[in-house]
Amino acid sequence: MKDSAARHSKDAAITADQLRQLAYNEKMAELGKISAGVVHELNAPLSVIISATQMIMREEGVPEAVLEMLERISSEAQRLSYLTKGLLNFSSHDDTIGEVDVNLTVAFVLDFLNFEAARRGVTVLRQLDYTLPVIRLDANLLKQILLNIIMNALQAMENGGGKLLVETIFSGTDDVSIIVTDNGSGIPAASIDRIFDRYFTTKKPGEGTGLGLFVTKKLVESMAGKIKVTSRNGGGTTFTITLPLQ
Ligand SMILES: Nc1ncnc2c1ncn2[C@@H]1O[C@H](COP(=O)(O)OP(=O)(O)O)[C@@H](O)[C@H]1O
Ligand SMILES: [Mg+2]
Repeated sequence: MKDSAARHSKDAAITADQLRQLAYNEKMAELGKISAGVVHELNAPLSVIISATQMIMREEGVPEAVLEMLERISSEAQRLSYLTKGLLNFSSHDDTIGEVDVNLTVAFVLDFLNFEAARRGVTVLRQLDYTLPVIRLDANLLKQILLNIIMNALQAMENGGGKLLVETIFSGTDDVSIIVTDNGSGIPAASIDRIFDRYFTTKKPGEGTGLGLFVTKKLVESMAGKIKVTSRNGGGTTFTITLPLQ
């Protein structure tokens, strides 16, 4: 009785907006599963296109104009194949802890988001510290953390002229930092304390869920790490994630 009353009051605490948001999240999660299947299906035809165009290109007497066209078909198909492999890699759900090269994980996420950055005219710079030691953690979770932070940065730079800098730094002793800096809209002082709250978003429904940073912070803490933000309204934002070696 007490239990069901508690559950009832918890349910009642969900506002209409939050319900819409939850329904949207659930829909995206379902679509995500379906997309993973679709993307998987794309692999085989893409391989056929790539190898067939290459075979035709090796034939003798193919006119120059046709060769050029084949070259384009082949490079576009390779680009798509690269994207689908990235998506499949990203969506994989094997939670295994292992020795992770943080630089490689950062590079993977940046390569994967290259298209999203280009679409918004954002220049991406990386400054990776190659003295970084490996860390024992779940690389899939680290990818998700980076995806959340970098997508937020890209979304804050929709208006063009965006610059994104991703750095890795080894403290020399016991931790590794990943620093993501953008020159986007910035976060107003009035909301900076709330950005890690569950459901806090300034985006339109369908564009933001307000769960990204909430989940990101929990994930970082599950790795015994810390996440910090500094921002000036209109002057860009910096997120720093610090992960201990042990
Ligand atoms: N790099 C950034 N620049 C400006 N605002 C940001 C940035 N990152 C996060 N924010 C703010 O924090 C809010 C919460 O982010 P998040 O938890 O990822 O939710 P969502 O992206 O779904 O809105 C965003 O709506 C935005 O107002
Ligand atoms: Mg987000």
